[in-house]
Amino acid sequence: MADLQLTDDVPPVADDGVWLACIECGETFAPFDAIRYTCDDCDGLLEVRYDDLPTFDEFEGSGVWRYNAALPFEEGVTLPEGDTPLHEMPRLKDDIGVDALRVKHEGMNPTGSFKDRGMTVGVRVAQEVGVDRLACASTGNTSAALAAYGARGGMETLVLLPAGKVAAGKIAQASLHRARILEVDGNFDQCLDIVQDLAQRGEAYLLNSLNPFRLEGQKTIGLEIMEEFYADHGEYPDRIVLPVGNAGNTAALYKCFRELVKAGAITEEQVPKLTGVQAEGAAPMVEAIENGYEDTRRWEDVETRATAIRIGNPVNAPKALPGIRETGGTAVAVSDEEITEAQRDIAGEGVGVEPASAASVAGLRKLRREGEVDSDESVVCLTTGHLLKDPEAAAEAGNEPEPVANSTEAVLDLIEEPSSITGTVRRQVSKAADAPLVPALVASGLGVAYLYRKLRSKK
Ligand code: F0G
Repeated sequence: MADLQLTDDVPPVADDGVWLACIECGETFAPFDAIRYTCDDCDGLLEVRYDDLPTFDEFEGSGVWRYNAALPFEEGVTLPEGDTPLHEMPRLKDDIGVDALRVKHEGMNPTGSFKDRGMTVGVRVAQEVGVDRLACASTGNTSAALAAYGARGGMETLVLLPAGKVAAGKIAQASLHRARILEVDGNFDQCLDIVQDLAQRGEAYLLNSLNPFRLEGQKTIGLEIMEEFYADHGEYPDRIVLPVGNAGNTAALYKCFRELVKAGAITEEQVPKLTGVQAEGAAPMVEAIENGYEDTRRWEDVETRATAIRIGNPVNAPKALPGIRETGGTAVAVSDEEITEAQRDIAGEGVGVEPASAASVAGLRKLRREGEVDSDESVVCLTTGHLLKDPEAAAEAGNEPEPVANSTEAVLDLIEEPSSITGTVRRQVSKAADAPLVPALVASGLGVAYLYRKLRSKK
């Protein structure tokens, strides 16, 4: 059983108050004397530890490096990252039925996902340990961030991607930022197996979230949420709902909260309930939570439209499962249809996210419907990547372009008629799909008729 207790004992290996600790056997290591990703003794996951943990009044500046008092360096290889919006979602809040709903949009980072927060720290560590080739396996976003931050740091980058399963925007980024892109005939978990082998053989520095320094950068998501939510609401959120793939963010947020409690910045009661959402076709974390497993069981066959979280072997599960359990959170699986629906709902408030990101809102809606989330809760949903990452999914979820002749009359004629199938109607059709067939047909028929009449009456 993983031991995630933060202790006061500073081991002799600590360098400037920073060390690595194995969460399984407790062994400690100097942070930068050698390259290691897991424990030399038992292969357990490592965590970065500090002798001095800051409270909120020690943070200054903006972005990830505002929080350098909680990080191993003063500054990193930066583009810069962090400081992402915490959107209000008034209509969605009322529709889902919670007391407060904010969306932390990590898609607003420089390369369009939260991965930038981890890379600004991770690439700084790569400089510290003196490597020049960086590598990762990726469902896409990590590769885009690695390529950009590697380029910024003047380093060679190598990315292993599951062939045919990475959204176009992400490949375009990795490619233009000069990563060497290897498309593997296998899934993400198999890519990660290979890249771990390469790293063990000293061929490249691994910058997947197995690397404990990446999670240090990602924990600043939690710090930003806590500071901003408190400033706006006078209290901390009851719950944070996030999409889960490799469970790096879940692990990073839990570490953020453990450190804040240890520093005396918040009480244990003020820790938000960590609530993970996975796609039904790739849900080993949900399975582990539902069945009380200590670790996840690897799913060999995974599938979902939310390709970013098409992961069957979440390597950070030993850090993340206790995070969900200890904070009183839960995990839930949602269908691809529910994900697309949520993507449309979020877009309807002006915020564009990729499918995996929308899983958080889909999960919240489901948990609220099931009564697992109360109406008096204040909730932050994390949206992890930008809409433009996966233009194909966005176009599929959105309205169809309508061809029209090259004249004002033709345009006027067209806009006086209802469009053949708009997002609004599609939404009614897909919502009704949960209901029995006859009411569904009536509901969707009424929707079309209503829209048609509304448009006609404007004549
Ligand atoms: N959302 C997006 C948009 C992602 O790209 C990822 C992970 C996750 C959620 C899941 O986060 O792994 O911390 O639980 N993407 C990785 C990648 C695996 O390679 O880009 P997690």
